[in-house]
Amino acid sequence: MSASLPRILVTRRLTPAATERARRDFDAVVAEQDMDAAAVLDALRRHPAEAILIGPKVKLDAAAVAQLPACVKLIANSSVGYDHMDAQAAKARGLIVTNTPDVLTDCTADLAFLLLLGACRRAHEYEAIMRSGWRKGFGLPDMLGVRPSGKTLGIVGMGRIGRAMAQRARGFGMRILYHNRSRLPAELEQGAEYFADLHSMLPHCQILSLHLPGGEAGTLMDAAAFAALPKGAVFVNTARGSLVDEDALIAALKSGHLFAAGLDVFRSEPDFDTRFAELPNVFLTPHVASATQETRDAMAMRALDNIAAVTAGRGPIDPV
Ligand code: DGY
Repeated sequence: MSASLPRILVTRRLTPAATERARRDFDAVVAEQDMDAAAVLDALRRHPAEAILIGPKVKLDAAAVAQLPACVKLIANSSVGYDHMDAQAAKARGLIVTNTPDVLTDCTADLAFLLLLGACRRAHEYEAIMRSGWRKGFGLPDMLGVRPSGKTLGIVGMGRIGRAMAQRARGFGMRILYHNRSRLPAELEQGAEYFADLHSMLPHCQILSLHLPGGEAGTLMDAAAFAALPKGAVFVNTARGSLVDEDALIAALKSGHLFAAGLDVFRSEPDFDTRFAELPNVFLTPHVASATQETRDAMAMRALDNIAAVTAGRGPIDPV
């Protein structure tokens, strides 16, 4: 540790390679346990830092932003989503806020596709049968799933991750529809059909997958939106739980209006609504879309790249 290095506070545990870099390139305090906002404010009293690296556990609302000491110049999110903090309040205080786009695109689309396939093909139900000791064969009409190949997939949010999802879906011969704030140029659309209005698209979507940030979008998928999907549709969410009215989703799954759902994100994490776990037609993962060695390394490194750029007087790489 050297006083001449930029002083930073890393508020969450990083991968070993990123921890080593943080300690080598900065005068860094690196959390041994992931901190919450109160712990961050407390740690900053002992280690006044010019940059803080945060994850979703640090809920920096406007009140917490106002309490950050004046030494803090940069809030580097080690995630692409930053709906856990009030970025407007931070920027109004003159703070720089960054995130980590690009590096988790493929992993998130991979997991969304895993959920899509798993929900359609009842992967978790078959797996549970095997683990409990499969002894009875299946007849022709028993425990049938839905064939994903050739289906019509609706993508809500056609940013990097939405487009990566479309790329995977093309390999399965799917027709791709999308809803986005604005229409993409043809080279990015690659044949996907644009709907300016979400509710006009929903009745055509045999499978629907969300790929937009939480926060501003609000509760996009409410009872009316689920009702607008065709009967037997499959719903996938790797974006944010806040986009979904979970009571409405559970009702649609229970009534059989939806065939199944694949969910990685929930309104309340990690203490998610356990009614989901009681439904056989939900394939569940605990917000792990980016959880591969390569991607978690890349996310942490990208956050450190942003810190290095800003503390060296260059502009941020990924300002939000
Ligand atoms: C992100 O980066 O936003 C992922 O959801 C992980 O938090």
